[in-house]
Amino acid sequence: MKHPEFPLADDLIYLNHAAVAPWPKRTGLAVIEFAEQNMHYGSRFYLDWLNKEAELHTQLQALLNAPSADDIALVKNTSEALSFVAYGLDWQAGDNIVSSNEEFPSNRLPWESLATRGVEFRQADLNSSDSPEDALFALVDRRTRLLTISSIQFASGLRMDLEKIGSFCKQHDILFCIDAIQSLGAVQFDVQAYQADFVMADGHKWMFGPEGLGVFYATPAAREKLKLTQYGWHMMKDIHNYENKPWEVHPAARRFECGSPNTLGIHAFSASLSLLLETGMDVVESLVVENSSYLRDEIDKNEQLILLSGRQDRLKSGIVVFKHRLISSDALFKHLQKNGVICAVRGGGIRFSPHFYNTREEIAKAFEVLAAFNGVN
Ligand SMILES: Cc1ncc(COP(=O)(O)O)c(C=O)c1O
Repeated sequence: MKHPEFPLADDLIYLNHAAVAPWPKRTGLAVIEFAEQNMHYGSRFYLDWLNKEAELHTQLQALLNAPSADDIALVKNTSEALSFVAYGLDWQAGDNIVSSNEEFPSNRLPWESLATRGVEFRQADLNSSDSPEDALFALVDRRTRLLTISSIQFASGLRMDLEKIGSFCKQHDILFCIDAIQSLGAVQFDVQAYQADFVMADGHKWMFGPEGLGVFYATPAAREKLKLTQYGWHMMKDIHNYENKPWEVHPAARRFECGSPNTLGIHAFSASLSLLLETGMDVVESLVVENSSYLRDEIDKNEQLILLSGRQDRLKSGIVVFKHRLISSDALFKHLQKNGVICAVRGGGIRFSPHFYNTREEIAKAFEVLAAFNGVN
């Protein structure tokens, strides 16, 4: 039975939420309604749009368990927010940043680019210690200013113990930055329990949002440490006083939103989040984990398949990566794609990333499609 919010084409099995998710029905309808309004009324209802923008801040506050909606800024994407941090902090030559060697380029390039200022980017091999967290801690020294990590690794599904890392960072006076794009919308998240200074994520993966609109969380103390790198009218404290000279920067995180908001994206993203928040992130997480556990079991049962993502009994995510003993992942991917199983090639294998609404029947069907591979594409 299809979930009523996901009227996907009958010939598709969508297992690619770690890349780009489909929109829920309510999101599609919100976009249509917003388009109709724009066609017939232009910006006549702009005040309603501002209310929707405020609602989205509050929804994101709930999803992150942020102390205040003032700690939330809307950004273009994860990369933009990571760049705000990388280019906002006052680095000294000889400082270092600790991370892993499994990061998506968004959480590597901004830090590597600081080499020109004499800042070192250290990448831990997460398998080199008793735990992935210990592997990170082993690279820390007294010049470590920031630790930055993906909450869940995109190519392996490894889920980090964020509470453990957060408390280590606090003890050692290190800023803690989390690329949360593979967690938010899939599993529960709590910036306060993790003692995070900065968290960022784009909306188009597990949160079911459109591409190009994301969230940037910074604590009041952490955002004061960031020199601003973009400027415009929307970041002023007295926002609608256009004659405002001299002007003051907005005390809230909206100082990172320099110009006109992405009102279309905001309407879509807010509709998507309403589905997750109505369902409850505890329910969503347990269904996501059930689906990925089922996937792992099916891979284990199949002698032709090798599970590449770890078993991770302690912390489970929605990402499972595997390969075939005989067939190349590229060939298998083409076959799956051609037969309507939407997935990705990552981490040296096929990545399946089902969400909460995917059914066991669909996942079982994906394995039937896989088994039907006959080498002809
Ligand atoms: C861990 C991680 N970070 C960031 C991104 C994407 O970054 P952005 O939102 O800047 O496009 C991805 C996309 O696959 C990702 O997996």
